[in-house]
Amino acid sequence: MPTEPLLADALGAIARDIDGMFDALLPSQGRLAAAMRHAAIGGGKRLRPLLLTATAAMHGADRTHAMRAAVAIEAIHAYSLVHDDLPCMDDDAMRHGKPSTHIAFGEAMAVLAGDALQSFAFEVLSDPATSGDPFVRAEMVQVLALASGAQGMVGGQVLDIEGEGQALDLPAITRMQQLKTGALLSAAVEMGAVLGKLPAEGRMHLKGYARDIGLAFQIADDLLDHAGDETKAGKALRKDAEAGKQTFVAALGADRAREQARMLVDQAIAHLGSYGQEADLLRAVARYIVERDH
Ligand code: IPE
Ligand code: IPE
Ligand code: MG
Ligand code: MG
Ligand code: MG
Repeated sequence: MPTEPLLADALGAIARDIDGMFDALLPSQGRLAAAMRHAAIGGGKRLRPLLLTATAAMHGADRTHAMRAAVAIEAIHAYSLVHDDLPCMDDDAMRHGKPSTHIAFGEAMAVLAGDALQSFAFEVLSDPATSGDPFVRAEMVQVLALASGAQGMVGGQVLDIEGEGQALDLPAITRMQQLKTGALLSAAVEMGAVLGKLPAEGRMHLKGYARDIGLAFQIADDLLDHAGDETKAGKALRKDAEAGKQTFVAALGADRAREQARMLVDQAIAHLGSYGQEADLLRAVARYIVERDH
């Protein structure tokens, strides 16, 4: 757990609230529903929901609205992990300290649960209960769709899979990481800004912050794969090198990769210079991203 009380409290609260909302909103009957619930409930740091709700709160948005948008982005994240763990992708049998969805429910059901979680995200996001303002809903739908698809997370996953065993240079690895992980983290911050009705021209500093923590976050994930504790991580580690994954750790070595991640965190925090203590939670999240052990 993080040592900063502000962050520890916020992480505890968001984990509890996201679990509660998934439980209330996800379908409950049948095997597909059970697989969706297995993937979405009871695990994960809930960092995207935390980024979204913290940014929304900084700009005066309603907490219930922000929580619904947070459920939507976390559903996309959960779907991305279900598919990422499939035998045809990273072939991982454990996630969040329990069997991956395809181990628990079979491959076909895991593919379908991932698909349905993706649709669920947009169902929740486009519902008037998420914002009374149709322009706000439409903009959030667009931000999340762009960040999830070919120009975002899925595009990055393609580069990750196609890059296996190749020697990518640093700019190519950076681009892959920014897409597969950075895009969704940036979308979380941006959706918070949209809910808070921050005009596009006022979002520059937040964008810089999100871009830097996105990259730092994936470097930290790759460092955990290299040297982390499997029980704490809740997933199999020490697989990237063998799979020939192109990571900052592979390109720079662990020490320089860690230095790079810390530098990015300092840079991310510097982007928040125009904010006062209302941005302390975002600053704490940035520090946690590279110091975390899971
Ligand atoms: C893991 O993301 C996959 C990546 C994008 C690196 P997280 O570390 O945010 O996953 P959980 O949900 O908290 O386990
Ligand atoms: C996954 O990256 C990124 C996604 C878009 C899901 P990884 O493959 O490194 O994530 P882990 O290590 O399995 O959580
Ligand atoms: Mg992967
Ligand atoms: Mg993986
Ligand atoms: Mg990884």
